[in-house]
Amino acid sequence: MAKAKYTTHLGMNDILPGEIEKWQTLENVIRREAKIFNFEEIRTPIMEQTELIVRGVGQLTDIVSKEIFAFKRGDDHYVLRPECTAPVARAFVEHHLDQRGGSQKLYYIGPMFRAERPQKGRLRQFHQFGIEILGSDDPVADAECIAFMMHIYNRIGITNTKLKVNSIGDPESRDSYKKALVKFFQPYREQLSEISKKRLEKNPLRILDSKEEEDQPLIENAPLIENYLNEESAGHFSKVCHYLDELSIPYEVDPHLVRGLDYYTRTAFELVSPDLGSQDALAGGGRYDLLVEEIGGPKTPAIGFAAGIERLFIACKELGIELGEPKSVDVYLVTLGGAARTWALQTLPILRKKGISATMDYMGRSMKAQMKDANRENATYAIFIGDHELEQGKFTYRDMEASEEEMLTLQEILERLESSAT
Ligand code: HAM
Repeated sequence: MAKAKYTTHLGMNDILPGEIEKWQTLENVIRREAKIFNFEEIRTPIMEQTELIVRGVGQLTDIVSKEIFAFKRGDDHYVLRPECTAPVARAFVEHHLDQRGGSQKLYYIGPMFRAERPQKGRLRQFHQFGIEILGSDDPVADAECIAFMMHIYNRIGITNTKLKVNSIGDPESRDSYKKALVKFFQPYREQLSEISKKRLEKNPLRILDSKEEEDQPLIENAPLIENYLNEESAGHFSKVCHYLDELSIPYEVDPHLVRGLDYYTRTAFELVSPDLGSQDALAGGGRYDLLVEEIGGPKTPAIGFAAGIERLFIACKELGIELGEPKSVDVYLVTLGGAARTWALQTLPILRKKGISATMDYMGRSMKAQMKDANRENATYAIFIGDHELEQGKFTYRDMEASEEEMLTLQEILERLESSAT
């Protein structure tokens, strides 16, 4: 086959018929379960103001410093959203959602954009589903957020996951921890990887996130955040763990889990899978108690998570989980001659009105070719219409799987179809 002249950008994929069914199935599961958990959907624009993402996600993060797709048009600075927490917080402030009362329980599904180096499980346009709970700092909200995340994966059948949790403390706890980290790493500066050397100055917590081999022995001996949490942060985290225990959600406290976005405070968590290779995070999230205020809103503690949909599908494939039914149609109208085509065209709306999916040939093909097409379309029944059938008012009604045929009137066919649908 000739190579196409125009292709998608690197790391950005078309989702084609044949694949779309698994997306639809997953989206249906998310929407149904979100409703059961009493979350409401929110949809924000694909583009945001660059300033929001820079302030929200953090100037020093990889996402902002290296990975945003941004451009200027007139006086406006646009960015393709790299994530949805800052946009949801923006919408919360812009539309005064706090005035609806109570805590806002929101969910979203949609594309995000990061100019990363593409590899397995790492794309430039990828899709996330996620939830944000705004307005509560009760550890119950943390537990519910994690419970929803686990519920979706369990529901799909991805159960061989590992939940890692940590508390990165409030700003006061984190400041004293940062100082301790700098004090610890400084004497070993020359042994650190290049990236960790940079982080030592700008964001020492992220050294703990390093995958570089030379950093590992040092990280292992680094001071632990749990010894620097103030009473409030420590108390909050122990309640989160207690609720997870009460919900029988297995987890592991990982003192090195710091997450790569700057807005986090206190609870941080990640769900990892052994089936994903080096990009092993299925989902991640945490508290961001200061973000809403940071972008000009009222004091609003909040927590949420986001999950990578493409990574979820990789895990499904590894585990042999099939999502989505193969494409099919209830009825294929096979026609011979002009009068039959007109009759078929008029009969399609009668079938469809009854909720029966139906199609016919649009290419003037032979009956044999139409039969082949009915098979390709995975039709459950075929109805044959020619001049003779039209005269008699009876049509060949074929059960494709059983290869059985009967001569029936349209009324009888409709009755059969309706009774087989119930
Ligand atoms: P994140 O950890 O940056 O968090 O992304 C969440 C998930 O999105 C990851 O665990 C991964 O599955 C998927 N993901 C991220 N980048 C890529 C990529 N380049 N290609 C494919 N999948 C990717 C957030 O985005 C936060 N907004 C989560 C959150 C919500 N925190 C609080 N509320």
